[in-house]
Amino acid sequence: MRQLLRVSAAGLLLGCSSGAAATGASEAELSPLQPGLDYHSFANIEQFRVTHLDLNLRVDFHNKVLFGAVGLEIKRLDPRATELVLDTRDLDIRDVEERPTDVLGATAKSQTTWVSRPFHFDKADPILGSPLVIELAPLQKKTTELIRIDYVTSPTSPALHWLDDNQTTGKHQPFMFTQAEPIAARGWIPLQDTPQVRVTYTAHIHTSNDVIAVMSARFDPKAKRNGEYVFEMRDAIPSYLIALAVGDLRFKETGPRTGVYAERPLVSAAAEEFAGTEAMMQAAEKMFGPYRWERYDVVVLPSRFSLGGMEYPRISFVSPTILTGDKSQLSVVAHELAHAWSGNLVGNATWRDLWINEGLAEYLQSRIISAAYGEPRDAMERVLGLDSLRTDLAKRKSQDQALAIDLRDRDPAAAFSSVPYEKGRLFFTYLEGKFGRERFDDFLRAYFEHFAFKSLSTEQFLGYLKDHLLDRYPGVVSRDQVMQWVLAPGIPADAVLPASDAFQRIDQARGDWLAGKVPAKKLDTRDWMTPQWQYFLDGMTSPLRKEQLAELDQAFGFMRSGNALVSSSWLMLVIRSAYTPGFPRLEEYLQSVGRRKLIEPLYEEMMKTPAGAVMAKRIFAQVRPGYHAYTAAAIDAIVNPASEDAE
Ligand code: BES
Ligand code: ZN
Repeated sequence: MRQLLRVSAAGLLLGCSSGAAATGASEAELSPLQPGLDYHSFANIEQFRVTHLDLNLRVDFHNKVLFGAVGLEIKRLDPRATELVLDTRDLDIRDVEERPTDVLGATAKSQTTWVSRPFHFDKADPILGSPLVIELAPLQKKTTELIRIDYVTSPTSPALHWLDDNQTTGKHQPFMFTQAEPIAARGWIPLQDTPQVRVTYTAHIHTSNDVIAVMSARFDPKAKRNGEYVFEMRDAIPSYLIALAVGDLRFKETGPRTGVYAERPLVSAAAEEFAGTEAMMQAAEKMFGPYRWERYDVVVLPSRFSLGGMEYPRISFVSPTILTGDKSQLSVVAHELAHAWSGNLVGNATWRDLWINEGLAEYLQSRIISAAYGEPRDAMERVLGLDSLRTDLAKRKSQDQALAIDLRDRDPAAAFSSVPYEKGRLFFTYLEGKFGRERFDDFLRAYFEHFAFKSLSTEQFLGYLKDHLLDRYPGVVSRDQVMQWVLAPGIPADAVLPASDAFQRIDQARGDWLAGKVPAKKLDTRDWMTPQWQYFLDGMTSPLRKEQLAELDQAFGFMRSGNALVSSSWLMLVIRSAYTPGFPRLEEYLQSVGRRKLIEPLYEEMMKTPAGAVMAKRIFAQVRPGYHAYTAAAIDAIVNPASEDAE
């Protein structure tokens, strides 16, 4: 149905879709993929476009719901259309009202002109949620139309993460935040949940007066803590970038247009760690053009946040696990900042085109880190990135090794592997190498300018690349070479692979220690940074003896490390070596950290032995309620593989 609806609007492929229904084969098998068509939204965007949202929501920590209303400004592109289809997931829709267009001009803001409209849900899809169909009156006059939807979210919505007081850092107030990418915005707002529709928004958020609310919008960082917060986003952004966090946050300025929000115990450490944000912004602006979002703040969320960072416009959400004290994880801030150009300013039209967001953000991140902290710092990251790309490529079937992959009938979260990130970064590095930095930077600046506040598909990107780079400097890179990167599996043979000598010393140190040549205490580790410590520990490929682990711990204090990345690598070794003195720390770690990249490997490793599996199941049963819904589901699949099959 979804396919028919959207495809008929585009006037294509109708026969294939009905054919698929008749034979029972999946659409993906029978019909050619249509570039730029978002298969992960029910919204009839050829007929209607939502252009602006007015949110008015109350945060109810007790019931773990948001309730209130959203006003939608819509343009009816097809004057005959009367059914507006919006994306929703687990939303309790209480009422839908319309302000009739014939009276709009005359009685502009009057409260009395709202009229209820009939609505119903079409058949729900396990991945896509429930299409909300609103029946509108026939169009009287060509103008902007307004509708208002009263609704309540569900306590189990995957868009919302709720934490009790004791699951926060400060432990005095509860905390909540939204996480919508890729398709969970529909779990907290009924809207056209596709990245090719961009909206501006305003929001009024009501909370108790001992917490504050922040959003991906303009607001006053010094506003009174009175439970009433007002926001305005004047630039058009995709639905997955609408974000809200509420908790006992403090603000600290780090520059004229930068600052940090964190719970009180972390705010000073965060301000110190992120003091260089303004310098990174200036480096980025010099290379890629002006920063278009006025301010850039960073919010440090409680440690159960499932990501390293998330790139909301004007404000990034980050995990406290990136506060490593050595500024090594500024690459996460650089990455989220890079999205201010790649993704937020110019973004993917569908989730198949994710590599345009993430691959280019990785490349820009590298450039920012190199400019602000030197090339060797970045080279370390790229080498580790290549390792993870190789690991992921080995696990993925060949169609899923391309940059642009077919995600029909799949959860688009499946797109998020190292492939769009690291292969994407290699592709842009390759282009830079071939055309030279100056020409490539000119190209990038023009690209961000040309597509500013728009979304584009892989094919549109390739068209622009051809016109403005390949054809402009003929004979440098052929279209076939580009297609090899974008559509073929593996890493093309002419890729320029990263190298770093920062790890040779670590290999040497590890080798010396393992061979019993140098005791741990005597290793010269004074200037090692977090990635080097991770590399040191991750490189112990076979299990260690009890005495060896005790010696390492004694020399470097791994068991008490406050660095969550180093702890994760250490605990991996603890599990692999069945080092029982480390188990209490493992349990404590899994109780507080929710960042998937750091905890999934630990569960996977535990599942490799029967005793470990018992432990993994026991710990997971305990900590599950504190994890985000998607994290819980992913770990459930690792820890209880049989139950997943049964579903
Ligand atoms: N946009 C992503 C976060 C994301 C990933 C959202 C998957 C939804 C699904 C963000 O920019 C990101 O890539 N974060 C990385 C850190 C980065 C340095 C690679 C992360 O959280 O690991
Ligand atoms: Zn990213």
